[in-house]
Amino acid sequence: MSNKDVIGIFDSGIGGISIWKEIVTRLPGEDTIYLADSINAPYGAKSKEDIIALSVKNTEKLIALGAKIIVIACNTATTNAINYLRENYKIPFIGIEPAIKPAAIQSQSKAIGILATKGTLNSALFQTTSERWTQGVDVIEVIGEGLVPLIEQGDLENLELYNLLESYIQPMVEKNIDYLVLGCSHYPYLIPLLKKMLPPHVAIIDSGLAVARQTEAVLKELNNLSGDVSSEHYLYTNGDVKVLKKVLLRFRESVKHTTTITISHK
Ligand code: SIN
Repeated sequence: MSNKDVIGIFDSGIGGISIWKEIVTRLPGEDTIYLADSINAPYGAKSKEDIIALSVKNTEKLIALGAKIIVIACNTATTNAINYLRENYKIPFIGIEPAIKPAAIQSQSKAIGILATKGTLNSALFQTTSERWTQGVDVIEVIGEGLVPLIEQGDLENLELYNLLESYIQPMVEKNIDYLVLGCSHYPYLIPLLKKMLPPHVAIIDSGLAVARQTEAVLKELNNLSGDVSSEHYLYTNGDVKVLKKVLLRFRESVKHTTTITISHK
């Protein structure tokens, strides 16, 4: 790896690769290190204390590997641990939160759906944001229980996954939602399935691009953008390397300009 400081990114598994792809596309000169903590997925069903402990472990690993900024590419870790991390580490953190505000503002039917983990929906940060932006809007919150473990297996055309997802989406459709907010970084992989089950006028919002823009803005403000034209990327997983490789193949078009991508088990 080059001796540049890197953008460190972590998630409870492969979900955050959807965010990593946006960052690599937007900032082609930046080196990145991605940690997929698949062995501990899902974070969404864990206690706040456990989520903080896992986020601390990931943060310390990324700092030791030369991170200049850390992107928490996991909604559950952001909503439960970002305040703790910001209070205890000097490095800047970028988090990912469900895009409730744009959905609530733009909704015509005044009904929006939010699919997220229990850990995210129950967090104080989520509840405060939701109360602030959704006055007069019917918010249908659904816990996507069981989705993350199925996505982590890497088979995204699986019938069990389709049926489970449909059981979560149907009640939202019945309430006439016109926006569906994806509140978990694993869920963008479900967009092809969601498009089959949602009426065509329902817009799906995920937060990947917003996170990449925010990362760029913070690095610019700190005068810490690399200014290079090429980059190197290390992706570590403590789960199945084959699943990570399969997921990366989906994004090969968007990341084909990158110099090197190394995937390893750690
Ligand atoms: C999980 O690990 O349960 C999901 C990660 C997320 O909330 O983005």
